[in-house]
Amino acid sequence: MDRILIRGGQRLAGRLPISGAKNAALTLMPAALLTDEPLTLRNLPRLADVDGFGHLLNQLGASTSVEGTRPDEFGRVMTIRAGRLTSTEAPYDIVRKMRASILVLGPLIGRGGEARVSLPGGCAIGNRPIDLHLKALEAIGAELEMAAGYVRATAPGGRLSGGRYRFPVVSVGATENVLMAAVTARGGSCIENAAREPEIVDLCRCLVAMGAKIDGIGTDMIEIEGTDRLHGATYSVMPDRIEAGSYACAAAITGGELELTGVSADDMGATLSALTEAGVRVEPTRDGVRVAADGPLRPLTLSTAPYPGFATDMQAQFMAMLTLADGASVLTETIFENRYMHVPELARMGADITVSGRTAVVRGVAGLTGAPVMATDLRASMSLILAGLAAQGETSVTRVYHLDRGYERLEEKLSAVGADIERVSDG
Ligand code: EPZ
Repeated sequence: MDRILIRGGQRLAGRLPISGAKNAALTLMPAALLTDEPLTLRNLPRLADVDGFGHLLNQLGASTSVEGTRPDEFGRVMTIRAGRLTSTEAPYDIVRKMRASILVLGPLIGRGGEARVSLPGGCAIGNRPIDLHLKALEAIGAELEMAAGYVRATAPGGRLSGGRYRFPVVSVGATENVLMAAVTARGGSCIENAAREPEIVDLCRCLVAMGAKIDGIGTDMIEIEGTDRLHGATYSVMPDRIEAGSYACAAAITGGELELTGVSADDMGATLSALTEAGVRVEPTRDGVRVAADGPLRPLTLSTAPYPGFATDMQAQFMAMLTLADGASVLTETIFENRYMHVPELARMGADITVSGRTAVVRGVAGLTGAPVMATDLRASMSLILAGLAAQGETSVTRVYHLDRGYERLEEKLSAVGADIERVSDG
C-alpha cells in the first residue's frame, strides 16, 4: 500500500499546471453513450476515477482508445466509441466503488430507452441518496422500478416524452443525469433550480457540440429541446477549479507564491474571494492565476453552498489552511452531513478544532507538527497533504488511493515547486 511522506516547512514557488477537471470528465464520458459516433475528449485527467469510468463504458460495449501524451505532459486524449451497446446495466461491483457511475442512467435511457443501474449505497461523506435523479427522470417520462438494489428505468415507446421538473434542493449529479436524458426526448424539457456548477456548463457545451439544443446554460433554469439524434464531436475538458483551489491553499499555507496555469479565475470566484479575505494575494495572469501569501493568514467565517457559493469540495483544504490563521475561523458544511473526517487527523498534527453538528470552529495555532495520519476521503486527504507541507517534521499519509481519485501526479506537481514530498510503497 502506498504512503506519501512529506517533510514540511518548504516555501512553495513556481508555476504549477492544472489538469482537466475530474468532475467534468465524469459527466462528459457518459455523454458519449448518447451517440453511435465517436466522442473525443481532450485534456482528460489521468485519475483512478477516469480509469474506472472507462472500464464501466467498456462493460456497456463502448470502446475507449487513449492517445498517449508525452510523459512530461499531464492529461490525455480519449476517444469513446459507443457504436453498438451490448449492455444497459451498470453492475453493483462497479457502482459501489465509484458512485459517479450513476451518471450512465440518463444517457442510457436517452440512447436506447432503457437502463438498469445499481443503487450507489452510502459514502464516507454522507448518505447521498439518488431520489432527485429518479424524480427528475420520472418528470420527463421515465418509468422506474426498484428491485434487488437496482433501479430499472424505461422510456415508454423507447423514447422519453420530455417534461418539467423543479429541484427542491440543488443537485449537481441529478441535473447532469436529467440533462443527458432530456437532449434526445421526443418533446422539450425544463429544469428549474438546476445546479449551475462550471462542470455542468462544460457538459452543456459538449452536448451542444454533439448537436443538442439547450438554452439557459449556466443559469438555474435550463430548457432543452429534444433532438432525434446526436452526433460525434471533439471536446476539451475544462480545467479543474478544485485542484487549482487546493494548490492555491498550498501556496498560502507554506508562505509561498504559485502561478496556477491552465485555469481560469472566473471558475474559482468564491475560492479566490475567500483567499483574498484571508489576506492572500490573488491575481489573474495570462496563463492562469497567481496566488501569493502576504503576511499572516486572517481567520474566516465560511459556509459551503452550491455554485456560485463556496464549494464543499474546498472546505477541508481551507480548514487545513485556517489552522494556522491569526485567530478563530467558523466553517459550516451545509451540503454533506459527514464531511469533517479530516478533523481528528488534523488534530493529531496539533490543530485546534471543535466540531458541533455542521459547524467547526478552527482556532489558529502557532504551528503544526508532522505525524502519521490517515486519509478518509478525497478532499480530506488533500487537507492532510496541505497540513504536512506546513508542519515541522515528517508527515506520513496513508490510504492515498483516495488522493489518486482526484489529483493527477500530485507529488510530481508539488516537488516541482519546492515541496519535499515522495510516495513510498509498503509492498
Ligand atoms: C457532485 O456530487 C461532485 N461529484 C461532488 O464532488 C461535490 O461535492 C458535489 O457535487 C457538490 O458540489 C461529482 O461531480 C462526481 P449533489 P453529487 O447531488 O452530484 C443531496 C469531490 O470531492 N442529494 O449536488 O453527488 C446530497 O445528499 C466530490 O470531487 C439528495 O438528497 O452531489 C447532498 O447533500 C465529492 N438526493 C446534496 O444533495 C439526490 O438525489 C448535493 O449533492 C441527490 C443529491
